[in-house]
Amino acid sequence: MTGSIRRIDEFLTKAMPPTPCVVIDLDIVRARFHALRAQFPDMSIYYAVKANPAPDVIAALAELECCFDLASPGEMARCRGGGVVVGRLSYGNTIKRETDVAAAFAEGIDLFAFDCEPELAKLARAAPGARVFCRLLVRNTGAEWPLTHKFGCDQQTAIDLLVRARTLGLRPVGVSFHVGSQQTDPHQWEAPIAHAAAIFHACARQGIALSLLNLGGGLPAHYRSAVPALERYAEVINTALGREFGTARPHMLLEPGRYMVGDAGVLRCEVVLAAERPHPGGHRWIYLDAGRYNGLPETQGEMIEYRIRTSRDGDPTGRVILAGPTCDSTDIIYQRAGYELPLTLTAGDHVDFNSAGAYTSSYASVAFNGFAPVRTWCI
Ligand SMILES: Cc1ncc(COP(=O)(O)O)c(C=O)c1O
Repeated sequence: MTGSIRRIDEFLTKAMPPTPCVVIDLDIVRARFHALRAQFPDMSIYYAVKANPAPDVIAALAELECCFDLASPGEMARCRGGGVVVGRLSYGNTIKRETDVAAAFAEGIDLFAFDCEPELAKLARAAPGARVFCRLLVRNTGAEWPLTHKFGCDQQTAIDLLVRARTLGLRPVGVSFHVGSQQTDPHQWEAPIAHAAAIFHACARQGIALSLLNLGGGLPAHYRSAVPALERYAEVINTALGREFGTARPHMLLEPGRYMVGDAGVLRCEVVLAAERPHPGGHRWIYLDAGRYNGLPETQGEMIEYRIRTSRDGDPTGRVILAGPTCDSTDIIYQRAGYELPLTLTAGDHVDFNSAGAYTSSYASVAFNGFAPVRTWCI
């Protein structure tokens, strides 16, 4: 699933941008869009802007007539600023300020997510007559970055809320779910698709013809563990759709974030300090200029394990603990994940995190401890 990062390496060698930085190869992003198009020809692709909101990424995808999934007014402004027409935008966050809903509706956006009654009531007030879809709570087993519990409702609640949406003057159009980010098991889409079909049938009995099924994100990038090929996801998802919906397939949306940009980026860091710590079980500690608070938030709990390379590759290796530059003791990147890196690594050397195009620079928005957010370069 990886694309070639040759162009990124050439840029890093020639331009020597200050570290830490993320370099994105837009050709890989475009290739990802085309791969999705080929595997899911009857689905609309809504890029989840949160994964990497760099204006060049948005522009590259907008040129391919991609649609966009938004989480906030800031993301809306970025897409609109990049010339994306409102008909290609969906407000997929289930947690929205009422004034933000009103502003998005005034802008012309008319597709919104919800998962509970108060949010639905808010939509009815701030976006009267808008199209709305209900997010289901689904298991996130198999996801390396789960999104459970915070979002979604059960099947019966979804049916009740979709009926209520009509009463409130909204247009209930369908359901969505998210099987968890970096989902390594394609079969995790099967149960939610079956639940969605049951909701479609139940609503039809109440005179509501649902037409939209949002299959969410979850398609993986290429980290340390192998993941199934995109073709396998397409096969399992399409089989499930055929089983549950037959030939009456609804209009389907995909909301890829990580898959679209993850493998398109490299996070380049510099070693700030290499030190032996004498305490029991001590190791060689490698402190980088990026960490949990600038660029690597998804190493929290060592959940996402990036593939790492260094400017000393080829030298003898040994166990190391990798940590970030801040004064916070939680700013440890990998302690238990068993990374072995060259023991010659020293201050000034480079450490690259591969497949780091998603959820790296977008998270690092505040200069905690005065360390500047990670800059993005798009090539
Ligand atoms: C509503 C929604 N859609 C899509 C995504 C993108 O998910 P992924 O990066 O796993 O593709 C997210 C991620 O948090 C999300 O919250």
